[in-house]
Amino acid sequence: TKATTGSGNPRDFIAKMKDGKKRVVIFYGSQTGTAEEYAIRLAKEAKSKFGLASLVCDPEEYDFENLDQLPEDCAAIFVMASYGEGEPTDNAVQLLQNLQDESFDFTNGSHKLTGLKYVVFGLGNKTYEHYNLIGRQTDAALAKMGAVRIGERGEGDDDKSMEEDYLEWKDAMWDAFSAALGVEEGQGGDSADFAVSELSDHAPEKVYQGELSARALTRTKGIHDAKNPFASNITASRELFQDTEGRNCVHVEFDIEGSGMTYQHGDHVGVWPSNPDIEVERLLCVLGLSDKRDTVIGIESLDPALAKVPFPVPTTYATVLRHYLDISAVVGRQMLGNLTKFAPSREAQDLLVGLNSSKEDYANVIANGCLKLGEVLQYVSGNDLAAPPTPANTTAWPIPFDMIVSAIPRLQPRYYSISSSPKLNPHSIHATVVVLKYESLASERIPPKWVFGVGSNFLLNLKFASNNEQPLLASSAPTYDIQGPRGAYKNESLYKSPIHVRRSTFRLPTNPKSPVVMIGPGTGVAPFRGFVQERVALARRSLEKNGPDALNDWGRISLFYGCRKSTEDFLYKEEWPQYAEELKGKFTLHTAFSREPPYKADGGKIYVQDLLWEDRENVADAIINGKGYVYICGDAKNMAKAVEEALARILGEAKGGSAAVEGAAEVKLLKERSRLMLDVWS
Ligand code: 2AM
Repeated sequence: TKATTGSGNPRDFIAKMKDGKKRVVIFYGSQTGTAEEYAIRLAKEAKSKFGLASLVCDPEEYDFENLDQLPEDCAAIFVMASYGEGEPTDNAVQLLQNLQDESFDFTNGSHKLTGLKYVVFGLGNKTYEHYNLIGRQTDAALAKMGAVRIGERGEGDDDKSMEEDYLEWKDAMWDAFSAALGVEEGQGGDSADFAVSELSDHAPEKVYQGELSARALTRTKGIHDAKNPFASNITASRELFQDTEGRNCVHVEFDIEGSGMTYQHGDHVGVWPSNPDIEVERLLCVLGLSDKRDTVIGIESLDPALAKVPFPVPTTYATVLRHYLDISAVVGRQMLGNLTKFAPSREAQDLLVGLNSSKEDYANVIANGCLKLGEVLQYVSGNDLAAPPTPANTTAWPIPFDMIVSAIPRLQPRYYSISSSPKLNPHSIHATVVVLKYESLASERIPPKWVFGVGSNFLLNLKFASNNEQPLLASSAPTYDIQGPRGAYKNESLYKSPIHVRRSTFRLPTNPKSPVVMIGPGTGVAPFRGFVQERVALARRSLEKNGPDALNDWGRISLFYGCRKSTEDFLYKEEWPQYAEELKGKFTLHTAFSREPPYKADGGKIYVQDLLWEDRENVADAIINGKGYVYICGDAKNMAKAVEEALARILGEAKGGSAAVEGAAEVKLLKERSRLMLDVWS
C-alpha cells in the first residue's frame, strides 16, 4: 500500500518542499552527526550562493515512493556516511534498501527515476576496508535507475582530510549544479539561520543550564537514549597505569541501577562531556560576553527545516559554550571566511583572510598548532595565547551570537567500548579510557602547546573530584565545571556524567564451545575484559549446575594483549589471573611488552601480531578446526592492519598456500561470516 501523499503526511518530503518553496532536498545518512553537518552546510551554501531553499532530511523520517515526483527544476543531494565495515548508518538503512531493491516501485509504477537530478557526497575513512562504500552504492543505484548525476561524486576521508576533500569537491559541484538547475550565483545573500534574543525576565527553573533534554530539566522519567542521556553516578574511578609518567588511563564505573538502561558486552557507552573552563572563558572574552555570561537567551530558527536550534533553549551564553557547542575542536578553514568581516582591526582582518585563503598557512598555523576558534581570533588580534583569557587581555570581536550557533557544530558524545559484562556487573557500565594529551607541532608563528582531548580529560577530572584528589598537572591540564547544571551532576557524595548506550554487534558467540581469539593492545583490551567477564559469569553458573567438569568441552579463549611495560601500563594486571582460575584453564593471556626485554633478534619491538604468529598453530587450529571467532580492537591504522596481515599469513600457511591468496581469501570469508570482527578507531 502506498503512503498517502500531500501536505497532511509528515513523511512526504515532496509536499514539504512545495509548502516551503524549496528546490533542493538533502538526505543525510549520519551516525555521529558529521554527515548531518555537511548536509546543513550544503543547504546553507545553496541558499547563500543561489538563494535556493533546501529541505534537509533525516531519511528515517521520510518515505521514498515519490522520489520520482521531484520536479524538474529541483535536485536531490545525498550525503552518505559509511559506518563500520562499509555499512549504512542506522538512519539510512531503509533509504539504501529502497534505492537498491528493484522490486521497490516509485509512484510511476516502476523502479525508475529517469531524469532525477542528484548529487552524492560520501563520508568514509580510509583506514577501513570498503572506503566510502555507501556513497558509491547510493550513486550506483541512482545511476542505474536513470537518475542524472550533477557533477562528480565527492568523497571525504575522515581519517585525514574530510574538510579539505569537501572544500576541493564542492566548487566544481556547485558549478555543475548551477548549470543543471539554471540558477546563477549571486542571487543569494548572507542570511542568518537563527534569531537570538536576550530575555530579561524568565523563570530560572525553565532555563536550560546544560541539561541535554527537556526531561532532564523537568526531571521526568523516560527512556534513556542519545536524545535523553542518563545522569549516572560515578561509583568508582581509578587510575589504571602503575607508573603514570604523566600518562593516565582512567577506569570509570557508571551506575545504571534504576535507570532502566541495559547493555551487552561489546556495546559502547556514549559519554557527554562539557568544555573545559578555560575554553569557555576564552570564547566569552573573544565575543565580549564576559559580563553577560548568565544572561538568559532565547534562540529561534528562521527556517526550522534547514537549521534546527541544536540544543534546548532558553539558556545562557555561558551554558551554550560550556555544554552545547564543540568549541574545543580545531577550527575549520571555511568557518574563518565567515568571520573576517567582524575583525576588530585591519591587521586582524588581513591575518584572518590569509589563514582562510591559503591552505598552507591554514595547515601550518591552525592545523599543526591545533588552534580552536577562540585561539585563532586571539592570535590574529595579537593577544597572548598562553595567558589565562580575561576581558582585559583579549580583544573582543563583534560576532553576532547567531553566527556562532550556526558555525560551530554541537558538542557530541564521546563513545568508549564498554569494558564490563552485564552478567557480572548488572548495575554498572565500566569504561577504560586513556587520557588524550599531546603536544601540537610548532610553527614559525605559534609555539607548541599541550592539546587535551575533551572527553577523556573530562573523565580524568571526574576521577580527581570523585576521589578528592588534586589534579596532577594543575598548571596546564584543563579543569571542568563538573558539578554540571544546577549541581545536577553531583549529589551529596557522587559526581555524575550524562551517558547513553550504543548497541554493537561486537559479541561473543553464544556457544561457549566455540574457541575465541581476541587481539586488543592498549585500551583495545577494554571490550575483551567484558568478554572474559561474560565467560566467567557463564562458567560460574555452569560449574554450579553441572559440576567441576562443566567446562571441559568449552573452547579456549585467548587474549593477545600488548602494552609498553609490565610495570607501567599493564591494564587490569591483577584481574586476569583470577579470571583464568575461574575459567579452569580455558583462558590464556598472551602479553607483548614492547618497551622491555625480550626484544626481537634485530632489536625490534615485540607486538601482539608477533605473539599471534608465534602461537600460529593454536590460532589456525582454533579458527579452522574449531570454527572459532576472532576479534580485533584498538588502533585501526597500524595495529589492526598488521594483525590482519598476520592472520592472513597464519591461515595461508595452514591452508598450504600463501598469505596473499589463500590467507587473504580466508580472512575475507571470516569477515563475511562475522567470525572476524573489528572494533577499531583512528
Ligand atoms: P609502542 O608504543 O612501544 O610502539 C599499546 O599502545 C601497545 O601497542 C604499545 O605496546 C605499543 O607499542 C603497541 N603498538 C604500537 N604500534 C603498534 C602496531 N603497529 N601494532 C601492534 N602494536 C603496536
